[in-house]
Amino acid sequence: METINSEIKSLSSPFIVNDKKELLVQKGKMEDKGYRIVTMTERDTNDAIMFLRKFFFHDEPLNVCVGLLDEPGSTCQELEDYCSISIPDGLSLKAVSPTDEIIAVCINGSLTRENNKVDAMIEEVNSCKNQKFKKILNLITSVNIQSDIFGQFPKINSMAEVRVLSVDDAYRGKGIAKACIERTRVLAKEKGYDLLKLDCTSHYSALAVSSLGGYSCVYTLNYSDHVDEDGKPVFVPELPHSCVKTFVCSLK
Ligand SMILES: CC(C)(COP(=O)(O)OP(=O)(O)OC[C@H]1O[C@@H](n2cnc3c(N)ncnc32)[C@H](O)[C@@H]1OP(=O)(O)O)[C@@H](O)C(=O)NCCC(=O)NCCS
Repeated sequence: METINSEIKSLSSPFIVNDKKELLVQKGKMEDKGYRIVTMTERDTNDAIMFLRKFFFHDEPLNVCVGLLDEPGSTCQELEDYCSISIPDGLSLKAVSPTDEIIAVCINGSLTRENNKVDAMIEEVNSCKNQKFKKILNLITSVNIQSDIFGQFPKINSMAEVRVLSVDDAYRGKGIAKACIERTRVLAKEKGYDLLKLDCTSHYSALAVSSLGGYSCVYTLNYSDHVDEDGKPVFVPELPHSCVKTFVCSLK
């Protein structure tokens, strides 16, 4: 137990106490901060979904707004599928503690100019049976269409996208989201993608990206401007969450 405690402490401290009670000064590398970031394989899908059920499904601002899992025992198969289908793209990451417990999940996928079909996206929204998730899918689709990344960047043919980012609430504010985004950027560049894109629905994920440097905000949608047929905002998240911001980083 002592080892676990000292290892967990190391997440917020520049020092680590090892099993022999030696005090080790951590190096500057993110990977030396008491957690590891590893690429997920399809075998990780179940564990990643379990993690997201515990955190993201309950605490991402839009999921909170629609009360995605408000009914006791409810699940959202559509969101689980949305996460699961991206993992085979080989870009998704998990951060794990020294005891191999998942402390963050970053679901990333890829998109090419050829398979970026607006009609198919709209069809997917229309056929979504879960009315709560449908609102979210509709917003994500609107942002995708309005931000028009392939139109804005006519020279790119492929991009990696951060689709879901979730950190265990006990480990927030320690730079783990930023480390996951940075690792995604490196991985996507290695795999030859032209651009990395992130749609930040949370004020905090937008802060994380802004503070990394090298990313440009190319689209913003205020939640107050995303309205239903009666002109009422579909989402009224708690402050400070006021908009979705799309960021890109060139990988060329
Ligand atoms: C958004 C989220 C992934 C951020 O994870 P994190 O590991 O805490 O983020 P980081 O520590 O890398 O910090 C990101 C930035 O936001 C700031 N920040 C993070 N949480 C904050 C909080 N509760 N209050 C104030 N600032 C906060 C940090 O200070 C940091 O900026 P910095 O450059 O000044 O340090 C996490 O809060 C989360 O899982 N939220 C619920 C799910 C969600 O909203 N996901 C994102 C959807 S796009």
